[in-house]
Amino acid sequence: MRKSISLILISSLFFLISEATITPPSDDPFYDQPSNISDYDNGEVVRSRSVSNELVSFLSLPVDVSVQAVHQYFFRTTDSLGDAAGSVVTLIEPYNSDPSKLLGYQAFYDSANVDCSPSYTLRADYRNLGLTVSGLNVSEDVPFIAAALNLGWWVFTTDYEGLNAEFTVGLQTGHAVLDSTRAVLSAGPSVGLSSDPVYALWGYSGGSLACTWAAELQPSYAPELNYAGVAVGGTTPNISSVLETINNGSDAGLSFSGIYGQSKAFPNLTDWMSTNLVSSKSDQFYNIANQCLAQATTDGDSQDIYSYFENGEDSFYDAVPASIFMWSGQLGLHGTPTAPIFLYKAIGDEISPIADTDYIVSKYCDEGATIEYHRDLVGDHETEAISGSASALAWLADRLNGESVSSGCTTEDVILSSLSVETLVVLGEELFSLLETTLGGLL
Ligand SMILES: *[C@@H]1O[C@H](CO)[C@@H](O)[C@H](O)[C@H]1NC(C)=O
Ligand SMILES: *[C@@H]1O[C@H](CO)[C@@H](O)[C@H](O)[C@H]1NC(C)=O
Ligand SMILES: *[C@@H]1O[C@H](CO)[C@@H](O)[C@H](O)[C@H]1NC(C)=O
Ligand SMILES: *[C@@H]1O[C@H](CO)[C@@H](O)[C@H](O)[C@H]1NC(C)=O
Ligand SMILES: *[C@@H]1O[C@H](CO)[C@@H](O)[C@H](O)[C@H]1NC(C)=O
Repeated sequence: MRKSISLILISSLFFLISEATITPPSDDPFYDQPSNISDYDNGEVVRSRSVSNELVSFLSLPVDVSVQAVHQYFFRTTDSLGDAAGSVVTLIEPYNSDPSKLLGYQAFYDSANVDCSPSYTLRADYRNLGLTVSGLNVSEDVPFIAAALNLGWWVFTTDYEGLNAEFTVGLQTGHAVLDSTRAVLSAGPSVGLSSDPVYALWGYSGGSLACTWAAELQPSYAPELNYAGVAVGGTTPNISSVLETINNGSDAGLSFSGIYGQSKAFPNLTDWMSTNLVSSKSDQFYNIANQCLAQATTDGDSQDIYSYFENGEDSFYDAVPASIFMWSGQLGLHGTPTAPIFLYKAIGDEISPIADTDYIVSKYCDEGATIEYHRDLVGDHETEAISGSASALAWLADRLNGESVSSGCTTEDVILSSLSVETLVVLGEELFSLLETTLGGLL
């Protein structure tokens, strides 16, 4: 009796200790930006550490995804004003890995709070990584990361919004993805990654925003990088249009974090906010804007974002927000991707109208890009994340296997109301069932 009580005590103490050792980024000195950050080169590693290979985000998956090792790097990047800034990337080595294959999976963490960054939530608080699969405490990003690891690929995932959690800020996020790739390519070999791996990017929704901006900026900002492919789904090429589309609906919470994210990147927008936010609603605005994705979605449900601004919808036509949402929220103005792109999107996407993606695809293609574009005739933003994942993963597997793509663009209307049989092969039975169940719940 006595023995079992002390065992319980010891094990719960151990639990408390192991929980308590994972400090959120806002309190963790690993995330402190050194005063001489501008003395580092873009992509240079400032500090590194290895963390526990037991990632809590994987615990409730129906499949064991214990991994060999998890490394984190604080690296230098460049913010949207062109100033030096730091961020963190997490590099995961699976068991029985193929060190010549590397995937940069960019999570849709969609939050303007740094404590919702994947370098932390993957390890400590899976519920905040992204939207959770209904009925299960698993972020929707996690099965995809798990599938990539189970294929033997090394995976890195970037805190691409940076230390200020600049959600939706195109330049910052694109730079951070590119510089984190540089950091992983230079630091990885000392922990077992090949010195010349084949590498690719993958992201959905907020993760696709980061990957597509990275692809667009790569030729000018990181010309030496050579992604074998970039798979993006649920793309959001035009932030102004997203804002209009989601207002008053179930995803309206994203507007709060998105506007706050942009304001943190641009001082003129911060000033504009201080005079244009309705003062009696300012606290409520920031309460929603500071949440992780799931809570922001709940708290912002059906909110009218325009009612938070002095001149309602017209506020957003003011020179300051209009210039920022264009410069920092519209794809296609900073370059043309040269890496091959696989793009999947539901024509019924309720967060970003399909017309915006049709537009950017045709603009990029006119400028010589290589894009395989799948327009899914069924489903919406939530379902496409899962039903489109099979083709994305299979396409990425081909790229990482070194299969070439024929250059130029193709657009195909597809019907992906469920997962295909090939998905079973790529994902494995357990993850397949998990996603199948989720999809069943959503459709
Ligand atoms: C930045 O400062 C630290 C602490 O003084 C020093 O160790 C480091 O070498 C400096 N880094 C660069 C790139 O100058
Ligand atoms: C998910 O987490 C919540 C809160 O921690 C808990 O109450 C619930 O039982 C968990 N659900 C599952 C299916 O694990
Ligand atoms: C982006 O969306 C806004 C708001 O709907 C629209 O005014 C603008 O023309 C769009 N930009 C492009 C390039 O389509
Ligand atoms: C959004 O909701 C507000 C308040 O409920 C309403 O006044 C407004 O007309 C709605 N806007 C649209 C575009 O439906
Ligand atoms: C706000 O600042 C950004 C970044 O410096 C700049 O590009 C933009 O033109 C400014 N907007 C206005 C209206 O001055």
